[in-house]
Amino acid sequence: MPGTLSRTTVGIVGAGPAGLMTSHLLARAGIDSVVVDHRTRAEIAGTQRAGILEAGSARLLTDTGVSDRVRREGRPHAGITLRFGGESHRVDFHALVGENVWLYPQTDVFADLAAARERDGGDVRYGVTGTRVTDLATDRPGILFTDAEGVAREVRCAVLVGADGSRGVCRAAVPEAARTHFSRTYPFAWFGVLVQAPPSADELVYTHSARGFALVSRRTESVQRLYFQCDPDEDPAAWGDDRIWAELQARVRGADGFALAEGPVLDRSVLRFRSFVCEPPRHGNMLLAGDAAHTVPPTGAKGLNLALSDARLLAETVERALATRDFGHLDAYGPRALRRAWRAQHFSYRMTTLLHRLPDASPFDERRQLAELSVLVGSEAASAHLAEGYTGLLR
Ligand code: DHB
Repeated sequence: MPGTLSRTTVGIVGAGPAGLMTSHLLARAGIDSVVVDHRTRAEIAGTQRAGILEAGSARLLTDTGVSDRVRREGRPHAGITLRFGGESHRVDFHALVGENVWLYPQTDVFADLAAARERDGGDVRYGVTGTRVTDLATDRPGILFTDAEGVAREVRCAVLVGADGSRGVCRAAVPEAARTHFSRTYPFAWFGVLVQAPPSADELVYTHSARGFALVSRRTESVQRLYFQCDPDEDPAAWGDDRIWAELQARVRGADGFALAEGPVLDRSVLRFRSFVCEPPRHGNMLLAGDAAHTVPPTGAKGLNLALSDARLLAETVERALATRDFGHLDAYGPRALRRAWRAQHFSYRMTTLLHRLPDASPFDERRQLAELSVLVGSEAASAHLAEGYTGLLR
């Protein structure tokens, strides 16, 4: 049954950071959009995600008027610690490349974007069901869905944006012959915990150990976010607090006596990861953004930054196409977004393979990894290269 028909200029599927930022930037250029998401606002707000913003991402939030909360409540981090062989080595981004990153979790970025869209009268429909996209290769693509009140709706637009994540409907609606997938899976995952305990370190600690990777991050002055490498099929329920703490402490332990501040585990989950790119990130008048177009493994926290950068490129591209009435300008989005996405793929892959233990790693492999880490912290050129990648200078 066709639903109640409405029109907008840009129809956006997905109210995560990519979708909401695109809608926000378009609104600033006077372009209307409708955003739909099958999740409720509370569901999106409650999903734990990564926590690091590149300086450029923080600037995008403040300079485009989303919110300046990142500057007030986020924490600038001028470096990270790489820990291996039981010792800590600081990589000083500020000294190496004059940049810092911001510890500001994705949940806060979402809250800011959702509040900004509401403040500015944006049309965002959460909790919709049965979303389908149609007529993608025409000049009036559409989104069909049932809204949260149970009313069937059809939104027709000039450009459709698929920002509905790695398992969304938009990419899946592109004929298989019209897309190529590049992907890599990894034989490990992350066990992520939120714990009630003060920070164990001032900055993030990325740890290589014989037992596998561990990462020390934080959320607030009393809540830490910690991760450790685990088997992809690990059952979070099989891990009590004591076992989690014993594993984390064993990974970070060293002759310097470094240890984690312990407390009750508030939340635990296993994050599977893979590297994935869909080319081209476009079909007709539908452009893909964020995880719908690409997924990076979490090491180095590039996913959110890529989503925001897609939104910026996408909004610029659509603005130009509409201003000139020449949809040929949409051609520019794919190559620009892909160049950035592949650079982030390379960075995330390298951070991942540098620090994780492969299940079948030989003693040779481990020694070689340790040598790579010592070159990385021992060479200013190598450290600067890492700093450029981490802070987002290699866009
Ligand atoms: C966090 C996650 C990451 O993947 C990372 O590289 C750094 C920090 C986090 O959740 O805080």
